[in-house]
Amino acid sequence: MRSVLIAGNWKMNGNMQSVIELVEGIKAGDPGKAKLAVCPPAVYLMKVGGMLDDSGIALGSQNVCDHESGAYTGEISAAMLKECGCRYAIVGHSERRSHYLESDQLVAARFAMAIAVGLTPILCVGETLLEREQGVTEAVVARQLDAVIELSGIGGIAGSVIAYEPVWAIGTGKVASPEQAQAVHAFIRGKLAAVDSEIAKRVQILYGGSMNPSNAAELLSQADIDGGLIGGASLKADDFLAIARSVQE
Ligand code: 13P
Repeated sequence: MRSVLIAGNWKMNGNMQSVIELVEGIKAGDPGKAKLAVCPPAVYLMKVGGMLDDSGIALGSQNVCDHESGAYTGEISAAMLKECGCRYAIVGHSERRSHYLESDQLVAARFAMAIAVGLTPILCVGETLLEREQGVTEAVVARQLDAVIELSGIGGIAGSVIAYEPVWAIGTGKVASPEQAQAVHAFIRGKLAAVDSEIAKRVQILYGGSMNPSNAAELLSQADIDGGLIGGASLKADDFLAIARSVQE
C-alpha cells in the first residue's frame, strides 16, 4: 500500500563537477520499483533540479527556514525551495540538532513552514547511543514527534515523511539491525495510530544510518520500513541505485 522512497542526503559533499556526474549516473541507472529523491547542498538545487526535469526523480533540500521571509541571513525559505523545484525538505536531521543546536520546537517550526507551502518535510527523529543505552529511545522519538504534532497536528504528519535515524548509526558503519529498526518504526506507527489510524497506515517511515547495498534488502523487507534516507552510499550512483533495486515487493 505504501510506496518505497529511497532518498539521498548528500550533506555538504561534492562540487559542481561531481554533482553533475552523480545526477547523470543516477538518471542513467535502474532504480527498480523504488521512487527516488536526492537532496543536494542548497547551492546546487537549481542545477540538479534542471537536470532532473522529466526524470521522475524528486528534488529535496537539506533544511528549510522557520520563518517566511525577512532578515534571516543565511537561511532559505520554504517558498524559495519550492520555486527551485523541491518536493521534499529534510528537517530535524541529527547533524542540525547536534551541531547547530536545533531544538524540537525549532524543528517543528521548520516543519510547519515546509507544510505551509506544499513541500513534503522529511522529519528526522532518532536517539543517541547514550539514550539507547539508557533505554529512552522511545521517549526521545516520542518527544521529537510530539513537538511537531503539537504545532502542525496529525494532519501535518499526513503530509510528511518520517525518517528514523539512530544517531549512533549515522556515518559510523554501525547499522541498526533489522529488528532494532523495525521495533522503532512500529513504535512510531503505533504512536501515530493512537491519534489517527488511517494516517498512520499511509505515512512513509524511512530508515537512515549506514544503509548500503549489502544491508538494504533486509532492512527494507521489514513491515514498517518504507524506504531509506541514505548518506554516504548516496554519493555513488551505483550504490544508491543498488539500494533502490533491493526493494522487493
Ligand atoms: P549515512 O548513510 O552516511 O550513515 O548517513 C545517514 C544519514 O544521515 C542520512 O540523512
